[in-house]
Parts: sequence; C-alpha cells; structure tokens
Amino acid sequence: MRIFSGIQPTGTKHLGNYIGAIRQYVVGQDRGEALYCIVDLHAITVAYDPAELRKSLYDLTALLLAAGLDPQRCILFRQGDVAEHSELCWLLCSVTELGRLQRMHQFRDKSVQQRELVSAGLLVYPVLQAADVLAYRAHEVPVGEDQREHLELMRDVARRFNARFGDGDEVLIVPEHRIPEVGARIMDLQDPTRKMSTTGGSEQGTVYVLDEPASIAKKIGSAVTDSGREIVRSPGKQGVSNLIEILAVASDRSPEQVEADMAQARGYGELKKAVTEAVVEMLAPVSERYAELRADEQALEDVLASGAARAREIAFQTLATVRERMGVGPARRAE
Ligand code: TYM
Repeated sequence: MRIFSGIQPTGTKHLGNYIGAIRQYVVGQDRGEALYCIVDLHAITVAYDPAELRKSLYDLTALLLAAGLDPQRCILFRQGDVAEHSELCWLLCSVTELGRLQRMHQFRDKSVQQRELVSAGLLVYPVLQAADVLAYRAHEVPVGEDQREHLELMRDVARRFNARFGDGDEVLIVPEHRIPEVGARIMDLQDPTRKMSTTGGSEQGTVYVLDEPASIAKKIGSAVTDSGREIVRSPGKQGVSNLIEILAVASDRSPEQVEADMAQARGYGELKKAVTEAVVEMLAPVSERYAELRADEQALEDVLASGAARAREIAFQTLATVRERMGVGPARRAE
C-alpha cells in the first residue's frame, strides 16, 4: 500500500497539525510505502516572502524529522523539486470543473482574506493537491478533517480522468482519505468554535509544536471552557470536548477512558493540568531533537534532494502513461 500526504511550509506548525497529521505520517512509515511532501508550490498561492518561504521550508523539514520521519523508511521531499506535480496539475485541469473550484470552502475563505491579489493559483490549488497524490498512484492520504473537501475533489478528478482516458484501466488510483477518529479537528483554545490554525486563530489559543513547556502551560491553563464542572464531551461544551480529545491523543487513551478517569476530578483546573502534562510530554522529544537537526541546512537539503530523486522515479512513470493516454507528446512505441 502506498501512502501520500502533503503539508505547507508556512507558519509555525501547531498542535492541530501534529495531532491531525504529523503523528499519522510517523505511523504510516510502518504501514506501507510512505511519501511526504512539503508543498512549497501551494504556499505561493497567497501573499508570501520568498526568503521566508525558504527558511520555513527548512524549519518544517527539521520539525518532521524531529517528530520521527525517517528518510530510510519514507520519502520526504519538496514539491517544487519534482516537476511532474506541476505538469500533472495542468493536465488534470482539463478534467476539473471550474464551478466546483469556485465553490471550494478554502478558496472562498482565503480569497476574502487576500488584500491585494486573489491569484489564479489559489483557485487551482486543489488540482495541484490532486496531482500531488495521483502522480504516485497512492492509496491512502492521512489528513485532518479540514482536508475532506479537497480529498473528495481529488477522487472525482481521478474518476473523471479514468472515465475519459482510462479505456477501462484504473490509470489513476482513486485514493482514500485517512482522517483520525480522535483529533481530526483540534480547536483554538481561546475560541473552540474555530479550528486551531496558523492563519485564522488566536496566538494565545494556538499551541505550537516547539513551544516551551511554560508557554504550553499558560495557553492550556487559560483555555476557554464553560461554567459547568462536568468533564464530558457534548455539543454545548466545545472547549472541554477539545481538551478531552487532546488529552486522549496525548496520553494514548480513548476519549471515553479519559472521561472515566476524570470522573472524580475537582473541576476543569485538574483537567487542564492533566492536558498540559500530557502535551508537554508528547512534544518534548520533538523540541529536543529539533535544534540540532535545524542547524545543519546542508543535511536537510541532502534529505530533500534524495527524497525528490526517489519521488521523481515514481511520478515519471505515471506521467508517461497520463501523457500517452491524453494524446500529449509522441506516441510510445509498442515494445
Ligand atoms: P496544511 O499544511 O494546512 O495542514 C497540514 C495537515 O494538518 C492538518 N490540520 C489539522 N488537523 C487537526 N486539527 C487542526 N486544527 C488542523 N489544522 C491542520 C491538515 O488537515 C493537514 O492534514 N492542502 C494541504 C496540504 C497538501 C496536501 C496535499 C495534503 C498539499 N498537497 C496532498 C494531502 C495530500 C494543507 O494545506 O495542509
């Protein structure tokens, strides 16, 4: 089984990224052939600074390695290094409906936020994302809940391509998403009606993977809850439900187990203390390894370059077939 996922090199990665995605990437290395892509080409669809992009790309590479990605057990690479992604994106544009792209939630949300330019890249973003996965004929895509719509579009694009050009073959594999049962949507600690995010969230409500323990304690300690005392998940208790989910993941328990274990707790203070301890313990090893990895940019480049070479070998073959089926370029001679 082949696993593929992508992550943007923008901003500082937070607990939502870690729980919803990065932890799954690490596990994926033992479940199949795993490819993980740092999507610099996606990051340029909104206003950005080129020097900052390069810096955050190294930050993220070091973070992913510190979190447990092992270049011996997965292919970690930079999207812009493998030209097949861009080419396949263009080719897939011909089987993608414009109206569907215009209706995507992310496009609508992000285009409102742009002050100067709503780029065409922002509209085509989901097609590039489809190309990322489909170029590898991957079966499974570990992501958080917010990527569901993109995954659905990707599946439809693959189906439409196969129907139009497949001639009965599954040239492109229709991938399945892998959204975790718990922690698929970690909420902002200050506003638990919104997801934790680098762009839209509050600083105080966002725990970063590399935050110091004291800062983690402060943020979780001041998390918004409600006026009750009961430590249970329910629709009216979004703040508490969020903390229960975080604690469940960070302490390797089910949310039901956390509720049972916390039944005797005296109020939310105790819950927050337990969440803080578990999160600090979960993230500490990542911070410990990070500094050393981040210091050696050449070593990070080497990891990305060898990842790209391995990725290209796979994507190249898919592209050859796609071009052939679409009638692009010369016909391949039958051997
Ligand atoms: P990105 O970089 O915004 O987020 C990376 C991953 O983190 C997950 N995530 C969350 N999970 C739980 N709770 C949250 N609050 C939270 N916030 C973010 C995201 O679901 C994601 O899995 N478009 C993608 C990147 C991408 C991609 C791909 C993903 C490009 N090509 C191909 C999969 C396959 C994105 O912007 O992720």
